Amino acid sequence: MRISVIGCGYLGAVHAAAMASLGHEVVGIDVDESKIDALRAGRAPFFEPGLPELLLEAGAAGGLTFSTDIAAVAGARVHFVCVGTPQMKGEFRADLSYVDASVTSLIPYLQPGDVVVGKSTVPVGTAERLAEQLAPTGATLIWNPEFLREGFAVEDTLHPDRFVYGLPTQDGEVTEAGEAAKALLDEVYATPLADDTPLVVTDYATAQLVKVAANSFLATKISFINAMAELCEATGGDVTQLADAIGYDARIGRRFLNAGLGFGGGCLPKDIRAFMARAGELGVDQALTFLREVDSINGRRRERMVELAREVCDGSLVDKRIAVLGATFKPNSDDIRDSPALAVADSLEKNGAHVVVTDPQGIENARRARPNLHYTQDVLEAVRGADVVLLGTEWTEYRDLDPEKLAEVVTGKHMLDGRNALDPARWRAAGWTYRALGRP
Ligand code: UDX
Repeated sequence: MRISVIGCGYLGAVHAAAMASLGHEVVGIDVDESKIDALRAGRAPFFEPGLPELLLEAGAAGGLTFSTDIAAVAGARVHFVCVGTPQMKGEFRADLSYVDASVTSLIPYLQPGDVVVGKSTVPVGTAERLAEQLAPTGATLIWNPEFLREGFAVEDTLHPDRFVYGLPTQDGEVTEAGEAAKALLDEVYATPLADDTPLVVTDYATAQLVKVAANSFLATKISFINAMAELCEATGGDVTQLADAIGYDARIGRRFLNAGLGFGGGCLPKDIRAFMARAGELGVDQALTFLREVDSINGRRRERMVELAREVCDGSLVDKRIAVLGATFKPNSDDIRDSPALAVADSLEKNGAHVVVTDPQGIENARRARPNLHYTQDVLEAVRGADVVLLGTEWTEYRDLDPEKLAEVVTGKHMLDGRNALDPARWRAAGWTYRALGRP
């Protein structure tokens, strides 16, 4: 089937390549020429495991093209809207200008019976508004949120945990146009659907809420364990053992109970804030006041880490050399948006320390965002002469570091583990002071 994907960021580029790999004829659209040039050349414009291979495979098969010209969508029957909804500057609300611009630009090319599929994360109510705007074209809107994780985007797109379709309804029933649109989207997803991927068919409101509810739950789970870390710090308990022990309860589960510097990235932080803002507009802000706590627990972990660094530096960070391992918001990504590691690095520098940051993939992005810090690709170079080493992002190469080898080049053998990713006994045996969040 001929389909278009509007927006070629972390979501859209992967979606376009994945849909092409399923055998569809896909055109990806983005306003950013450098991104489109890279994709046309078969290069991923950002680091995402598996994407380069998928682009090459799809490019070679001839079913994947890219353009900056929206007119290239003409003739496609299904159009995926995959643009970003960043946080508004100085506000909690989401900026919907890219979503609105995408839909407006699609309108001249839509035919009756075409399907527009919303995948961006939006405040509930947006789909209803867009559907009205699309009504005169005879095209139908489906709200089909995306749950992919960066670092696993290809796998998550091709083998999702579930599909959610928000369809147009009337008096509680899916409309005829909604059923026809569903049949077309089923055809697009025929391969993963054949794998028995669960499909939840619902209305627009529920579909939009599912996405922000899922992200709010994940953020809450992380902040819950980080709140327990605060309790552990006050009592001498060990949050990693606590997480193991409560995680054995199948109702709780161990995943997303890793205490440390907390959540960052382009989704969780801004999504919970936009959700709170929307609840306020809907007059139900009390329903989500707890998310304010989730957000502040998350922020407090970064502050605590700076305090820990100050403690091991005998009360002052001034002129201390600190190596920060990791710049990205999580491993296997080059994304530094709202990165806890980078925020801590920045705060240490503002407190007078000389901070050297290293990261396997994120240095270029980090340098652009925080030019005040010092960067090197080489871990040994970063830690050479350091008074303190701080693990900010748990890349495998940092988990596997040899404490003996590192000890030879540092000035002070202080390891601050911001992700509870290292074995304290091993580091202590090599003569290091090991400190972590929520661990004695
Ligand atoms: C998230 C959702 O997981 C995904 O379903 C949605 O589509 C987009 O938002 P992503 O932003 O890629 O995905 O990252 P995720 O893997 O969820 O991690 C988010 C942050 O939480 C990272 O900074 C990570 O380090 C942190 N985290 C995660 C913890 O601090 N502890 C954990 O136990 C898990």
